[in-house]
Amino acid sequence: MKLDDNDASWFSQQVVDWYQLHGRKTLPWQLNKTPYKVWVSEVMLQQTQVVTVIPYFEKFMASFPDIIALANADEDVVLHHWTGLGYYARARNLHKTAKIVRDQYQGIFPTSLEQVVALPGIGRSTAGAVLSLSLGQHHPILDGNVKRVLARYFMVEGWYGVKKVENQLWQLTEQLTPKENVTEFNQAMMDLGASLCSRSKFSCELCPLQARCKAHNAGVVKQFPHSKPKKAVPKKECYQLIIQCDDQVLMEKRPNSGIWGGLFSFFEFAQKAQLEAFLVQQGLALNTLEIEPFTHVFSHFELTIKPYVLKLHNMPDVVNERQLVWYPLDQSIEVGLAAPTKKLVKQISTMVYTSVKS
Ligand code: ADE
Repeated sequence: MKLDDNDASWFSQQVVDWYQLHGRKTLPWQLNKTPYKVWVSEVMLQQTQVVTVIPYFEKFMASFPDIIALANADEDVVLHHWTGLGYYARARNLHKTAKIVRDQYQGIFPTSLEQVVALPGIGRSTAGAVLSLSLGQHHPILDGNVKRVLARYFMVEGWYGVKKVENQLWQLTEQLTPKENVTEFNQAMMDLGASLCSRSKFSCELCPLQARCKAHNAGVVKQFPHSKPKKAVPKKECYQLIIQCDDQVLMEKRPNSGIWGGLFSFFEFAQKAQLEAFLVQQGLALNTLEIEPFTHVFSHFELTIKPYVLKLHNMPDVVNERQLVWYPLDQSIEVGLAAPTKKLVKQISTMVYTSVKS
């Protein structure tokens, strides 16, 4: 869709004016901006809201004040800083990228869009956001927030997981991104999408684009953006074995791919019989205690975890094996844990787990 120049400049002026009055300007990554800080914040914000990100960002910067410190850190320590944020591939890619910047760019974050897009975990929108927000470079962005604002304003039909719809949105953001004040415009578009134009709690009466917003004028804001066609969410289940000795529990490091790649978690089995066979094979007793199963919801499936605890009186000598760790229940060592693993550790440490069978 080719936009009229006057319409495009009205749109960007409204957005920039709104930013001057209402935009956020003092978030931790907006003060003393550097590409490094903005990059870390953009990656954290990819699937997570600002209020959640703030404490994680501050701890991350305290531990890894620059990209060299991040590159030189142990991967387990980086993942530890991500515990609870989810989508752990983001943390692994952050670490990989830091090492590339250290080794190929003398520790200086690259400043051309082509170089930035080539780094692990950085798509066109994130690259544009980093370079426009930190250095004022002229690049359009198209994150989930911007997509929602544009889909409503122009009543763009179709789900934007479809390439054709996404391309249409890119063409719109390219035409709307102004030459001047690109930093303010991009930040304002994300802020608008995250606040006044959020998916269900939108406040059109406060929106600077209300007068010309097609979905608003047609009274169909709720129907845009179009959702992904619904499919039944697959349900999976697994059995987890928690071997406990005094105040420690045994965990293994997951391979670097898969949902919890690189994180530490309990031994996992598809079937109860496999869990028991494992115990037999290790010469361990079968008197496990079954605790209340619970369900963890991922974006593309639901996993019901059935935990079994085996208490040992003597600690088997496994501490030196690379992929295994005796994890203290006071959580005093720095390794990354997936959210359900952390939940189980907490439950076991307070001994409030409900036994359904002993
Ligand atoms: N989501 C992704 N990046 C963001 C940012 N810079 N501000 C607000 N929300 C965001």
